[in-house]
Amino acid sequence: MGFFIVLAIHLSMWLLTLPAHLLDFLGLWEPLAMRLFPHLYAKVSLDYHALMHSYKKKLFSRLPDFTGPSGPLKVLEIGCGPGCNFLFYPEGTKVTCTDANPHFQEYLRKSQAENDHLHFQSNLVAPAENLSEVDDASVDVVVSTGVLCSVNSVEKALKEVLRILKPGGAFFFMEHVCADPSTWTYIFQKIYDPSWKCVFAGCNLCRETWKDLEKAPFSEMKLQHIRAPLPLRPTAPHIIGYAIK
Ligand SMILES: C[S@@+](CC[C@H](N)C(=O)[O-])C[C@H]1O[C@@H](n2cnc3c(N)ncnc32)[C@H](O)[C@@H]1O
Repeated sequence: MGFFIVLAIHLSMWLLTLPAHLLDFLGLWEPLAMRLFPHLYAKVSLDYHALMHSYKKKLFSRLPDFTGPSGPLKVLEIGCGPGCNFLFYPEGTKVTCTDANPHFQEYLRKSQAENDHLHFQSNLVAPAENLSEVDDASVDVVVSTGVLCSVNSVEKALKEVLRILKPGGAFFFMEHVCADPSTWTYIFQKIYDPSWKCVFAGCNLCRETWKDLEKAPFSEMKLQHIRAPLPLRPTAPHIIGYAIK
Protein backbone atom coordinates (compact mmCIF):
# COMPACT_ATOMS: atom_id res chain seq x y z
CA MET A 1 0.00 0.00 0.00
CA GLY A 2 2.81 2.39 1.03
CA PHE A 3 4.57 1.68 -2.29
CA PHE A 4 1.49 2.68 -4.32
CA ILE A 5 1.01 5.89 -2.34
CA VAL A 6 4.66 6.83 -2.98
CA LEU A 7 4.29 5.96 -6.69
CA ALA A 8 1.11 8.06 -6.96
CA ILE A 9 2.83 11.08 -5.35
CA HIS A 10 5.82 10.62 -7.66
CA LEU A 11 3.63 10.49 -10.77
CA SER A 12 1.53 13.50 -9.73
CA MET A 13 4.68 15.55 -9.07
CA TRP A 14 5.93 14.67 -12.54
CA LEU A 15 2.57 15.54 -14.12
CA LEU A 16 2.38 18.88 -12.30
CA THR A 17 5.84 19.86 -13.51
CA LEU A 18 5.55 18.21 -16.94
CA PRO A 19 5.77 21.51 -18.89
CA ALA A 20 8.98 22.38 -17.05
CA HIS A 21 10.42 18.90 -17.71
CA LEU A 22 9.56 19.22 -21.41
CA LEU A 23 11.18 22.65 -21.67
CA ASP A 24 14.17 21.25 -19.79
CA PHE A 25 14.44 18.40 -22.30
CA LEU A 26 14.52 21.04 -25.09
CA GLY A 27 17.19 23.03 -23.23
CA LEU A 28 14.82 26.00 -22.81
CA TRP A 29 14.00 25.72 -19.12
CA GLU A 30 17.27 26.82 -17.49
CA PRO A 31 17.34 30.42 -18.84
CA LEU A 32 13.64 30.82 -18.04
CA ALA A 33 14.07 29.35 -14.54
CA MET A 34 16.98 31.75 -13.87
CA ARG A 35 14.65 34.69 -14.67
CA LEU A 36 11.65 33.38 -12.76
CA PHE A 37 13.44 32.02 -9.68
CA PRO A 38 14.34 35.36 -8.01
CA HIS A 39 10.64 36.40 -8.06
CA LEU A 40 9.49 33.00 -6.80
CA TYR A 41 12.20 33.00 -4.10
CA ALA A 42 11.26 36.50 -2.94
CA LYS A 43 7.75 35.19 -2.22
CA VAL A 44 8.32 31.66 -0.92
CA SER A 45 11.38 32.41 1.23
CA LEU A 46 9.66 34.90 3.57
CA ASP A 47 8.39 32.18 5.93
CA TYR A 48 11.69 30.33 5.72
CA HIS A 49 13.66 33.39 6.80
CA ALA A 50 11.27 34.08 9.67
CA LEU A 51 11.45 30.49 10.91
CA MET A 52 15.25 30.33 10.63
CA HIS A 53 15.90 33.80 12.10
CA SER A 54 16.99 32.61 15.56
CA TYR A 55 19.36 29.98 14.11
CA LYS A 56 21.02 32.56 11.86
CA LYS A 57 21.21 35.11 14.66
CA LYS A 58 23.05 32.61 16.86
CA LEU A 59 25.36 31.47 14.06
CA PHE A 60 26.29 34.95 12.86
CA SER A 61 26.88 36.19 16.42
CA ARG A 62 30.30 34.49 16.02
CA LEU A 63 31.25 36.64 12.99
CA PRO A 64 33.17 39.34 14.95
CA ASP A 65 35.54 36.60 16.28
CA PHE A 66 37.08 36.44 12.80
CA THR A 67 37.80 40.13 12.28
CA GLY A 68 41.43 40.49 11.11
CA PRO A 69 43.95 42.55 13.12
CA SER A 70 43.57 45.53 10.76
CA GLY A 71 39.70 45.35 10.85
CA PRO A 72 36.90 45.93 9.86
CA LEU A 73 35.50 42.44 9.14
CA LYS A 74 35.61 41.47 5.44
CA VAL A 75 32.83 39.10 4.36
CA LEU A 76 32.21 37.55 0.95
CA GLU A 77 28.88 35.87 0.44
CA ILE A 78 28.47 33.19 -2.23
CA GLY A 79 25.03 32.83 -3.83
CA CYS A 80 23.83 35.80 -1.83
CA GLY A 81 20.58 36.03 -3.88
CA PRO A 82 18.44 38.90 -2.58
CA GLY A 83 20.77 39.53 0.39
CA CYS A 84 18.75 38.15 3.30
CA ASN A 85 21.77 37.74 5.60
CA PHE A 86 22.95 41.36 5.67
CA LEU A 87 20.96 42.27 8.78
CA PHE A 88 23.05 39.78 10.78
CA TYR A 89 26.44 41.29 9.83
CA PRO A 90 28.17 43.57 12.36
CA GLU A 91 28.23 47.34 11.87
CA GLY A 92 30.92 48.47 9.44
CA THR A 93 31.49 45.04 7.80
CA LYS A 94 32.89 45.23 4.27
CA VAL A 95 30.73 42.95 2.12
CA THR A 96 31.38 41.47 -1.31
CA CYS A 97 28.28 39.94 -2.87
CA THR A 98 28.52 37.13 -5.41
CA ASP A 99 25.87 35.07 -7.19
CA ALA A 100 25.71 33.06 -10.42
CA ASN A 101 22.28 34.46 -11.31
CA PRO A 102 22.29 38.10 -12.56
CA HIS A 103 18.51 38.37 -12.16
CA PHE A 104 18.74 38.79 -8.37
CA GLN A 105 20.32 42.24 -8.74
CA GLU A 106 17.07 44.23 -8.33
CA TYR A 107 16.31 42.51 -4.99
CA LEU A 108 19.97 42.68 -3.94
CA ARG A 109 20.21 46.45 -4.47
CA LYS A 110 17.02 46.98 -2.43
CA SER A 111 18.45 44.96 0.45
CA GLN A 112 21.77 46.82 0.22
CA ALA A 113 19.93 50.15 0.47
CA GLU A 114 18.11 48.89 3.59
CA ASN A 115 21.36 47.78 5.27
CA ASP A 116 23.28 51.02 5.48
CA HIS A 117 25.25 49.75 8.51
CA LEU A 118 27.44 47.82 6.01
CA HIS A 119 29.98 48.85 3.35
CA PHE A 120 29.19 47.05 0.11
CA GLN A 121 32.37 46.55 -1.94
CA SER A 122 31.09 44.94 -5.14
CA ASN A 123 28.37 42.76 -6.62
CA LEU A 124 29.98 40.02 -8.70
CA VAL A 125 27.98 37.80 -11.03
CA ALA A 126 30.10 34.67 -10.69
CA PRO A 127 29.63 30.99 -9.84
CA ALA A 128 30.98 29.89 -6.47
CA GLU A 129 33.14 27.37 -8.33
CA ASN A 130 35.08 30.17 -10.05
CA LEU A 131 35.69 33.38 -8.10
CA SER A 132 38.78 34.30 -10.12
CA GLU A 133 38.06 38.04 -9.64
CA VAL A 134 38.69 37.61 -5.91
CA ASP A 135 42.28 37.55 -4.63
CA ASP A 136 43.79 34.67 -2.68
CA ALA A 137 43.62 35.03 1.13
CA SER A 138 41.66 38.29 0.90
CA VAL A 139 38.57 37.82 3.12
CA ASP A 140 37.99 37.02 6.81
CA VAL A 141 34.72 35.17 6.31
CA VAL A 142 32.83 33.47 3.48
CA VAL A 143 29.08 32.92 3.97
CA SER A 144 26.84 30.38 2.25
CA THR A 145 23.18 29.84 3.14
CA GLY A 146 21.05 27.62 0.93
CA VAL A 147 23.63 27.62 -1.86
CA LEU A 148 25.63 24.38 -1.75
CA CYS A 149 22.43 22.51 -2.66
CA SER A 150 22.47 24.29 -6.04
CA VAL A 151 26.10 24.65 -7.10
CA ASN A 152 27.32 22.30 -9.83
CA SER A 153 30.29 21.15 -7.75
CA VAL A 154 30.44 21.48 -3.96
CA GLU A 155 34.05 20.32 -4.05
CA LYS A 156 35.11 23.11 -6.44
CA ALA A 157 33.12 25.72 -4.51
CA LEU A 158 34.85 24.73 -1.25
CA LYS A 159 38.23 24.86 -3.00
CA GLU A 160 37.49 28.47 -3.97
CA VAL A 161 36.30 29.25 -0.42
CA LEU A 162 39.60 27.97 0.97
CA ARG A 163 41.60 29.91 -1.63
CA ILE A 164 40.01 33.29 -0.88
CA LEU A 165 39.89 32.92 2.92
CA LYS A 166 42.74 34.40 4.95
CA PRO A 167 44.53 31.85 7.17
CA GLY A 168 42.41 31.61 10.33
CA GLY A 169 39.35 32.90 8.42
CA ALA A 170 36.05 31.03 8.55
CA PHE A 171 33.42 29.61 6.24
CA PHE A 172 29.94 30.08 7.76
CA PHE A 173 27.23 27.82 6.37
CA MET A 174 23.59 26.92 6.82
CA GLU A 175 22.38 24.40 4.24
CA HIS A 176 19.50 21.98 3.84
CA VAL A 177 20.76 18.44 3.28
CA CYS A 178 19.81 14.84 2.66
CA ALA A 179 17.80 13.19 5.44
CA ASP A 180 18.66 10.00 7.32
CA PRO A 181 17.88 7.14 4.86
CA SER A 182 15.78 5.39 7.51
CA THR A 183 13.19 8.23 7.57
CA TRP A 184 10.08 9.11 5.57
CA THR A 185 11.64 12.53 4.90
CA TYR A 186 14.37 10.75 2.90
CA ILE A 187 11.79 8.89 0.81
CA PHE A 188 9.92 12.14 0.10
CA GLN A 189 13.18 13.89 -0.76
CA LYS A 190 13.88 11.17 -3.34
CA ILE A 191 10.35 11.51 -4.75
CA TYR A 192 10.34 15.31 -4.96
CA ASP A 193 13.97 15.75 -6.07
CA PRO A 194 13.60 15.76 -9.92
CA SER A 195 10.64 18.17 -9.87
CA TRP A 196 12.14 20.28 -7.07
CA LYS A 197 15.31 20.75 -9.15
CA CYS A 198 13.21 21.99 -12.06
CA VAL A 199 11.07 24.42 -10.06
CA PHE A 200 13.80 25.69 -7.71
CA ALA A 201 16.52 26.36 -10.31
CA GLY A 202 18.74 23.33 -9.75
CA CYS A 203 18.28 22.90 -5.99
CA ASN A 204 19.09 19.31 -4.90
CA LEU A 205 17.21 17.87 -1.93
CA CYS A 206 19.51 14.88 -1.45
CA ARG A 207 23.00 16.31 -1.02
CA GLU A 208 25.20 14.97 1.77
CA THR A 209 27.00 18.30 1.96
CA TRP A 210 28.51 17.62 5.38
CA LYS A 211 30.64 14.89 3.74
CA ASP A 212 32.17 17.44 1.31
CA LEU A 213 32.84 19.79 4.23
CA GLU A 214 34.48 17.02 6.24
CA LYS A 215 36.66 16.08 3.24
CA ALA A 216 37.81 19.67 2.58
CA PRO A 217 41.09 20.62 4.28
CA PHE A 218 39.74 22.99 6.95
CA SER A 219 41.73 23.01 10.18
CA GLU A 220 38.71 22.97 12.49
CA MET A 221 34.96 22.66 12.06
CA LYS A 222 31.86 23.21 14.18
CA LEU A 223 29.01 21.44 12.39
CA GLN A 224 25.59 20.67 13.79
CA HIS A 225 22.79 18.64 12.20
CA ILE A 226 19.39 20.16 12.98
CA ARG A 227 15.81 19.53 11.99
CA ALA A 228 14.60 22.98 11.00
CA PRO A 229 11.07 23.91 12.12
CA LEU A 230 9.74 24.08 8.55
CA PRO A 231 6.36 23.06 7.20
CA LEU A 232 8.10 21.77 4.03
CA ARG A 233 9.58 18.56 5.42
CA PRO A 234 11.90 17.74 2.47
CA THR A 235 14.02 20.78 3.36
CA ALA A 236 13.88 20.33 7.14
CA PRO A 237 17.22 18.49 7.63
CA HIS A 238 19.90 21.19 7.85
CA ILE A 239 23.55 21.54 8.71
CA ILE A 240 24.71 24.71 10.39
CA GLY A 241 28.10 25.88 11.58
CA TYR A 242 31.48 27.19 10.51
CA ALA A 243 34.78 25.78 9.33
CA ILE A 244 38.13 27.48 9.93
CA LYS A 245 40.92 27.60 7.33
C1 LIG B 1 17.97 29.29 -2.32
S1 LIG B 1 18.82 30.68 -2.94
C2 LIG B 1 19.59 31.28 -1.44
C3 LIG B 1 19.90 32.74 -1.49
C4 LIG B 1 20.55 33.31 -0.22
N1 LIG B 1 21.83 32.72 0.03
C5 LIG B 1 19.65 33.15 0.98
O1 LIG B 1 20.02 32.49 1.96
O2 LIG B 1 18.55 33.72 0.95
C6 LIG B 1 20.20 29.94 -3.79
C7 LIG B 1 21.14 30.95 -4.37
O3 LIG B 1 22.30 30.29 -4.88
C8 LIG B 1 22.61 30.87 -6.13
N2 LIG B 1 23.42 29.90 -6.89
C9 LIG B 1 23.02 28.77 -7.49
N3 LIG B 1 24.08 28.15 -8.07
C10 LIG B 1 25.16 28.91 -7.82
C11 LIG B 1 26.54 28.81 -8.13
N4 LIG B 1 27.01 27.79 -8.83
N5 LIG B 1 27.35 29.79 -7.70
C12 LIG B 1 26.88 30.84 -6.98
N6 LIG B 1 25.59 30.99 -6.66
C13 LIG B 1 24.74 30.04 -7.07
C14 LIG B 1 21.27 31.17 -6.75
O4 LIG B 1 21.35 32.08 -7.82
C15 LIG B 1 20.54 31.72 -5.53
O5 LIG B 1 20.79 33.08 -5.34
